[in-house]
Amino acid sequence: MVMDKLVSLCRRRGFLFQSSEIYGGLNGFWDYGPLGVELKRNVREAWWSDMVSRHNSLVCLENAPSPYEMTGLDCTIIMHPQVWKCSGHYDLFHDEMVDCAESKRRYRYDQVRGRWVEAKGERIFVATIAESDDESKEVEQRALKFFRLRAKDADQLRWDSDFITLPEVEGLDRVLGPDARQLGTLTEPREFNLMFKTYVGALGGEESVAFLRPETAQGIFVNFKNVVDSTRVRVPFGIAQVGKSFRNEITPRNFTFRSREFEQMEIEFFCHPKDSNRWYQYWRDRRMQWYTDLGLAGERLRLREHDSQELSHYSTGTADVEYAFPFLPPGEFGELEGIAHRGDFDLRSHMEGKLDPNTRPLEVEKGPDGQPVWRGSGKDLTYRDDLTGERYVPHVIEPSAGADRATLAFLCEAYTEDEVPDEKGKLQKRTVMRFHPRLAPLKAAVFPLVKKDGMPEIAKSIYTALNPHFPVFYDEKGAVGRRYRRQDEAGTPYCLTVDGQTLTDNTITIRERDSLAQRRIKIDDCVSELQRLLT
Ligand code: GAP
Repeated sequence: MVMDKLVSLCRRRGFLFQSSEIYGGLNGFWDYGPLGVELKRNVREAWWSDMVSRHNSLVCLENAPSPYEMTGLDCTIIMHPQVWKCSGHYDLFHDEMVDCAESKRRYRYDQVRGRWVEAKGERIFVATIAESDDESKEVEQRALKFFRLRAKDADQLRWDSDFITLPEVEGLDRVLGPDARQLGTLTEPREFNLMFKTYVGALGGEESVAFLRPETAQGIFVNFKNVVDSTRVRVPFGIAQVGKSFRNEITPRNFTFRSREFEQMEIEFFCHPKDSNRWYQYWRDRRMQWYTDLGLAGERLRLREHDSQELSHYSTGTADVEYAFPFLPPGEFGELEGIAHRGDFDLRSHMEGKLDPNTRPLEVEKGPDGQPVWRGSGKDLTYRDDLTGERYVPHVIEPSAGADRATLAFLCEAYTEDEVPDEKGKLQKRTVMRFHPRLAPLKAAVFPLVKKDGMPEIAKSIYTALNPHFPVFYDEKGAVGRRYRRQDEAGTPYCLTVDGQTLTDNTITIRERDSLAQRRIKIDDCVSELQRLLT
């Protein structure tokens, strides 16, 4: 329910729209509206400034093994196809899908859920891809229809399992597919590569196939040597990148959570192998703290270490920062960011060729002819410490975050309904987006109480004074109470109002979004007061 209200607010107030909506939309693609673009920019800018531009490389930050440097890159979306062959994405970046012979629909194998049910002497598995709020209802209705029972006969259905996912079901012949009327219409699972394919140049054909990047990370690895050679940066250091990534998700869902085009904020942190475990722990905790500082605190946010079965073949440690999104069943969390200890896997893959995941220590994967399956660049991506003379392949710690997922979590966390007294003191319901001030799309709104007595002129001059410092909004239309409500929905932390008293003593009211507290400040102090409140 909260999710429905949030989705409707996002559309109504211009946070998010479905892409190409006038043509019916395109599944898995989202546009940020006027408020949304500011919110997402603030998320990205908070990340970039906290991780990169305002990082102090001269001091040792709390719990960091040593001081370190941070630098950035902005790489292309389309890269040499060999990048994806050596990184493993070409061979391994797939999800399992099942097709339905009856409905002709395709589903991600692990996203189909359902329950076993028995009636009229027959036992079937009713599958669904409905959102968690609706899945019980949907499964019951489809079971009733299958067994030709009426709603009043629902007690004839004997449910003999909780919801489980399709991979937990043995054999698909007793499965009623999510959009099917007959049993056993789902195919066995098959692999589906998630990379979007395109063609570079006018010729077309297999020779010119390229891919839209499914992650920004590889651009960093292939530029490792360029960065080391062109700057004075020394290990340990990090390279950060923010940018679009593309994945042809089989079932994009849950608003922007799983999109086909999305933005990532990734760091590849290069360190000496002997220090890498300590750096992994540092980055895991540092990234968790970042979300907490921006308002995602409490039970809805958690840091979860992967167990050994979940770890990638090359990783000695991975943790996810997770958020209990309201569209998930109670007790379930969705990934906001993964922090992975990747060892020397990536730099070695681009040097030597794609590594064989089944070897220990990792070796280049060879074909039947004894040659590498995918050749690396052959370039020397080792690092030489100019103080000690030691040469080695640095280990990598990768904090990899999604800008859209973070934005969605901040939207979910901010959404609040409460009751506030109107001008006559009567309690009215209000919807308020309690964004952290750093993330709020607008920092303040300026109103004249009424559109006369010179109040608009004074309010406009205050707006003009604030405008160079913060994103502010001027509004003189309609009752002031409604103007406050609109700003509450936009998440604006402060409203400044020019009223009758302003004309006599040059003071205005400043109203705080969350507490609704109002006090008077001097017009001349507006900029400094907001600066104080917002930093
Ligand atoms: N380089 C590592 C990497 O890409 P990932 O876990 O596949 O790791 C990192 O992706 C982050 O990117 C995720 O934690 C999530 O925030 C975001 N992300 C991944 N797929 C996404 C999708 N389909 N839609 C939105 N965000 C996505």
